[in-house]
This record gives sequence, C-alpha cells and structure tokens, in this order.
Amino acid sequence: MYKTVHRQIHRWYENYGRRDLPWRNSDDPYEIYISEVMLQQTQVKTVLEHYYFPFLQKFPTLQALASASLDEVLKAWEGLGYYNRAKHLHASAQQIDTLPDTLEALQKLPGIGPNIAHAICAFAFKQSVPVMEANVKRILSRLFTLSTPTAKELWEKAYTLLDRENPFDYNQAMMDIGALICTPRQPKCTHCPLQTICQGKENPTLYPQKQTKTLPRRIENILIYRHHDRLSLTQRTKRFLHGLWGFPSVEKIPKSAQSIGEVSHTYTHFKLLCDIYLLEEEIPTEKYYFSLSEIEKLAISKVDEKILKLLI
Ligand code: ADE
Repeated sequence: MYKTVHRQIHRWYENYGRRDLPWRNSDDPYEIYISEVMLQQTQVKTVLEHYYFPFLQKFPTLQALASASLDEVLKAWEGLGYYNRAKHLHASAQQIDTLPDTLEALQKLPGIGPNIAHAICAFAFKQSVPVMEANVKRILSRLFTLSTPTAKELWEKAYTLLDRENPFDYNQAMMDIGALICTPRQPKCTHCPLQTICQGKENPTLYPQKQTKTLPRRIENILIYRHHDRLSLTQRTKRFLHGLWGFPSVEKIPKSAQSIGEVSHTYTHFKLLCDIYLLEEEIPTEKYYFSLSEIEKLAISKVDEKILKLLI
C-alpha cells in the first residue's frame, strides 16, 4: 500500500527537502528534543535564526540544562513565548540522566505529549512511527477530506500512511510538504508528491475547516514606578507568565499616575489589552528597581517588552 507515493515523497525530499536543517543532521537526542520543543509552536525560521544555537551553546547537554537556574533558562527562551515549554524542559532535565527511547516513557516527562514523543522517537531514535504537527495535520485532513478531524482520526491516518521502510525522511518530508506545498492558502497541488492519492485536491482549502473563534478580551491596568531612571519590576508568581519579570497589574490607578499609552498582545486563549500608567515616585512596597541595562538581563515577556518601549 502507498508504495508508489512513498517513492514520490522520497524523491521530492531528495530534491526539495530542507535536509540541511541542523536538527536533521544531529545524532544527539538532546539536541533533537530541544529542537522539537521549540518547533512545536514556533516557525522554523525563528527557531533557526534566533534560538536553537544560542540555547545549545548555553546548555549543551541535559546535565547543563538541569544544573542551570530557571531564570537562566527563561532568559534564553525570552521572546519565544509559551514559557511553560521552557519550564517543562528544565524540570524534565532534572528528572533524567538520558532521554528515554519509548513513546510511553517519554510521555511521562513534563511537557512531552504525543506529538513531541513521536518526533523524538522518529528523529532521535529512528523508529518507525509517524509525526504530527500543524503542517502534517493539514496534509492528512486534505488527503482524506476530513473537515473537523479528531486527534484519534489523525493518528490513525498518520499510521496508515507512514513509510515504514524509510520513516525518517518520510516524516521530515511530510513537514516540508506541509510548509512549502500544502500551504493553508493557495497550495501548490500540481507540485505535490501526494497528488495521485489526494482526495481533497479539488477543494483543498475546505480541509480542515477553520474554526474562527473570537478570543475573549482581558483588560488590565499596568502601573510603572520610576525613580531616578530606575523602573520597578516584579517576578510573576501567578500561573500566567510565571517566573518572568514584568510590570505589575493593579486594580486602582493612583491619582498622581499619568497615562502613557496602551499595549495589546494576543495569546492562544485571550487577547490582553493593557492601559499603561507611570508614577514617578519611590514606593516602599515595590522592592526591586532596575536600570535599563539591568532589565536587559532579566527574562521578560513580549507584552512587558512592548510596555518598556513606551518609555525609551
Ligand atoms: N516542526 C516540528 N518538527 C520539525 C522538524 N523536525 N523540521 C521542521 N519543522 C518541524
């Protein structure tokens, strides 16, 4: 089954695949693990140009990562978003000496779900299992005309289609075909190595169906204390952006604070709208004041970075 298509995919990968991506040329399971965690929610270009190499330079092994402080790890992750990924990586490094090589054992580690476990088994341990991420989901949905597939349906299709003789190249190719050919808009079906079996190619953009949901809005008042050119930041202790440093959100704006602008940022589940106020006083309850160059060394979120830009 699918022998001809597997050959087409293989040939396509040899000619057009991104075979020089560094994590595709590494035999180190740790390096592959880091790449897959970064790539689950971030584009290849961003990971490649700004994060993958500096992170590995700072934390070249599982042991180096385990003995670093969480602050250092969050700093290296700054700007990548979804900071739980960094916290889970750090926690997982502290639980193991070497990365396990089964789907089951991998999924017991913090932050490793089915997608990352499959990617590690396929790419680090060269096992014959399929991988799943947004691009692969789109291909499978179109190939089998699935409008609103469940995870179970997608995994079943992925296992059916897998090239068990050449799983490594096949899986990497599927991601590339999703990124370069089977694109969300205007897919290049006539160049696709799967075109002979694709059931959705007449109307590819119908699959999968877009779920357009309007995100709830969350409005916050942010108060910045400034004293002698130093700004007050606190380390977040609540669930949201936990561990990152930032400007505090307050219920009530003091009368003497001045409004300096608005900042918004969209997260997976909500849109955050911030009204920003500045208070030029030293407040005894705010313990930590930093100069701009000290702030540069802290891990802060995208939204706090946008707030900071209002001041400089
Ligand atoms: N996204 C997730 N894993 C990937 C990989 N190995 N190569 C390119 N994009 C990916």
